[in-house]
Amino acid sequence: MATAAPRGGVFQRMFARKSIAQVQRESANSELKRTLGKWNLLLLGVGCIIGAGIFVRTGSAAALHAGPAVLLSFVVAGVVCAFAGLCYAELSSTLPVSGSAYTYGYTTLGEFVAWIMGALLLLEYGLAASVVAVGWGGYVVSLLADFGLVIPPQFTGPAGYTLMNEGKPVLVDGQTVTTLFNLPAFLICLALAALLCLGVSESAKVNNVIVAIKVSVLVAFIVVGGLIVLSNFGTLSAQNWTPFIPPNEGEGKFGVDGIMRAASIVFFAYIGFEAVSTAGQEARNPQKDMPFGIIGSLVVCTVIYMLVAAIMTLLVPYNTLNVPDPVAVVVDNFGPAWSWLAKIIKIGAIIGLTSVVLVLMYAQTRIFYTMARDGLLPKIFARVHPRLKTPYINTILVGAITAVAAGFFDINVLGDMTSVGTLAAFAIVCLSVIYLRRSAPDLPRGFKVPLYPVLPVLGILSCLYLITTVPANVLMFFLWYMIGGVVLYFLYGYRNSNLQHGEMQDDQPDLPAYPEDAGTVGGQPVIRP
Ligand code: ALA
Repeated sequence: MATAAPRGGVFQRMFARKSIAQVQRESANSELKRTLGKWNLLLLGVGCIIGAGIFVRTGSAAALHAGPAVLLSFVVAGVVCAFAGLCYAELSSTLPVSGSAYTYGYTTLGEFVAWIMGALLLLEYGLAASVVAVGWGGYVVSLLADFGLVIPPQFTGPAGYTLMNEGKPVLVDGQTVTTLFNLPAFLICLALAALLCLGVSESAKVNNVIVAIKVSVLVAFIVVGGLIVLSNFGTLSAQNWTPFIPPNEGEGKFGVDGIMRAASIVFFAYIGFEAVSTAGQEARNPQKDMPFGIIGSLVVCTVIYMLVAAIMTLLVPYNTLNVPDPVAVVVDNFGPAWSWLAKIIKIGAIIGLTSVVLVLMYAQTRIFYTMARDGLLPKIFARVHPRLKTPYINTILVGAITAVAAGFFDINVLGDMTSVGTLAAFAIVCLSVIYLRRSAPDLPRGFKVPLYPVLPVLGILSCLYLITTVPANVLMFFLWYMIGGVVLYFLYGYRNSNLQHGEMQDDQPDLPAYPEDAGTVGGQPVIRP
């Protein structure tokens, strides 16, 4: 393996770009076939999108910020995702690389931006896995309680919080309970990391079954809840939807500000739709099918989310929804005859959320793996187990990070950090589209963002705007996180990057290729770094 001295000045090195030919060589072992039609793409999106956002976070978004107008927050977040989704689609159909934002960053805006993107994706995938794991824990605790199995409440929440239910402290023996640690959320992260180490990942068939379960429980909720609502709409809307937009109380509580604040929370519910755009090379007819898949999956999910949110806020007062299992709590209000449905919904949510944690953790291991192959992280992250053929050390680390975050931190803080990181990543993706249109106008583009440059610019502005709606402490944490990331880049990535040393990844026979067929949907990798 030839090693050359780094070339160029600091600025030149920071913005060194991978050539498209180089990335193509690196992904040469994944010859992708154009097999996905527009409906496959749409289902791929719906499968990756639905998770803790709707099953868990909608409750606190309505209870604490938007009230019934959380319906509008879903529209706002969906539109922001549509801008970014169209930009993802253009990049994926222009750069013939199978990759997500990290690779796009490396080939357009250069290495430093790719590194920043890696740090943001750790929030988008790693931390999102923790959020979904906490949601999973909420439904498990609730289901076990239905069968008389009670996990000690101290072990069901983040460190140092007073255990609350429906806005009131939970009393055990007359005392409030301070939570120490979220044991179920911690354990699911470790268990799924162990499965990923063993090479277990979702096959296309399992994924389809899980998508069907997730969608079915939500549709059952909509149908049964919808019938109850329709039979009594006048009374319910007078009770629970009046006013539809509660008056602004300041600090992102209600009013239009609250709708926007809730949009940054329920934005979480849409994360994962980029999986459709990263399937650009497998789309039969990218020009038509990519926008159909992206916009279609966003529209389908927006409609499902709005219907679920409408039924939730009509059937119970919105201020009672700040619970770990809001969908199940609302079903409990359907009446005793429907208690079986509450259990089925809890089981469906647990199965669906398990698969989302698995996919997000898998995606995170792939990002670390690719960064290590590029020399931006220590090579140990790319070490593949000789027998299991999985990047086991990397996976153990991802399991440990997500488990600790899920075990000790509050879901609202974790969710806000995920939203901020993802919004920043989406803004960079929109910027990359503009950069590439200017720097390489003649590159053939399978799909072009309509109304260019209006939509990418709106994408950047709307993502940045939603970032400003999260609480100041989260923004401060995010700032320190990014400063830490920049320092690490100069301490490690800048000095060790293969690109800086003139090394190509395919010059490295000691690094076995990551198994390409792991974690697939319809035979295609779910989210590729
Ligand atoms: N969109 C995914 C969820 O809601 C991350 O769980």
